[in-house]
Amino acid sequence: MKPARAAAPGKAILLGEHAVVYGRPALAVPVTQVQASAALTPGPGAEFWIELPAIGRRYRLSRARPGDPLAAAVRLVLDRAGLTVPPGAVLRVESTIPIAAGLGSGAAVCTAVARALAGALELPLGNEDVSALVFETEKLLHGTPSGIDNTVVAHARPVYFVKGRPPEPFEVRRPVRLLIGDTGRPSPTRAAVADVRAGYARDRDHYNRLFDEIGALVERARALLAGTSSQPLGPLLTANHALLRELQVSSPELEALVAAAGSAGAEGAKLSGGGHGGNMLALVTLQSEPAVRAALLAAGAARVFATQVDATQVGATRVDAPE
Ligand code: PMV
Repeated sequence: MKPARAAAPGKAILLGEHAVVYGRPALAVPVTQVQASAALTPGPGAEFWIELPAIGRRYRLSRARPGDPLAAAVRLVLDRAGLTVPPGAVLRVESTIPIAAGLGSGAAVCTAVARALAGALELPLGNEDVSALVFETEKLLHGTPSGIDNTVVAHARPVYFVKGRPPEPFEVRRPVRLLIGDTGRPSPTRAAVADVRAGYARDRDHYNRLFDEIGALVERARALLAGTSSQPLGPLLTANHALLRELQVSSPELEALVAAAGSAGAEGAKLSGGGHGGNMLALVTLQSEPAVRAALLAAGAARVFATQVDATQVGATRVDAPE
């Protein structure tokens, strides 16, 4: 074994969250200005240690809590390498991705861990292998994940995703600029997914209609980003938000940010991810961006990221927090 490190980006869902759990398509993009990283150092003793310096935790793999996704990622890679006894090592995990905020923090830390350990063991793991492995850890975090988070994070490319199908990286020919506003309120995806499931159990027809409408918006947005439609994207985002509100996954904080973005000149806005808290997106131009950024911070955003979705990369220019 040799020392190795790896990093993985956060992600944002452009359209289609929740409906994607029920077989409808969704679009997601990596968000590279927030990242998880993992560094593996062989030895010094015989134990495999996991260190999380940000929360002051250090524990042995052999004593990890049942359901610990990091330990699960480690064990899955060791299994693939055919190692029944973990090697002595220290695995240090760090992340700048807010936890439980709809930015793919769980998938990103497990992707970084899987890649660092595979690198240390010189085990070849392709993007799809990493995605499949991280999907197993997502089940521990989310219960019934669609697989979109592990897919977009492991591939680190914009994807059109339908559960159970190979992911389709999509060509962005019409670049879009987004502000991602964080409500500052953590919201575990598992709880939001369970709430939607309870609603679905009560009224399947109504929920299936809402999921179909969301799926239709995703198809229109994909055509638009691929440059085969000249429709504006903003109204599609706002319509998706209205449907998510009907699914009862919005919150007063998200409503305040979405409304503030609209009033300040964003072309469209919606919550992104599980909802009830976490993050929202606002579609901006270079001209409208400063006013929308200021409006989001004034309406209570804990911080705001700028992200560009285009043919080559998804990157950020600035991260702002209130004074
Ligand atoms: O991890 P989050 O909060 O971005 O949520 C993932 C998207 C959901 O559709 C709500 C759940 C899923 O597994 O697809």
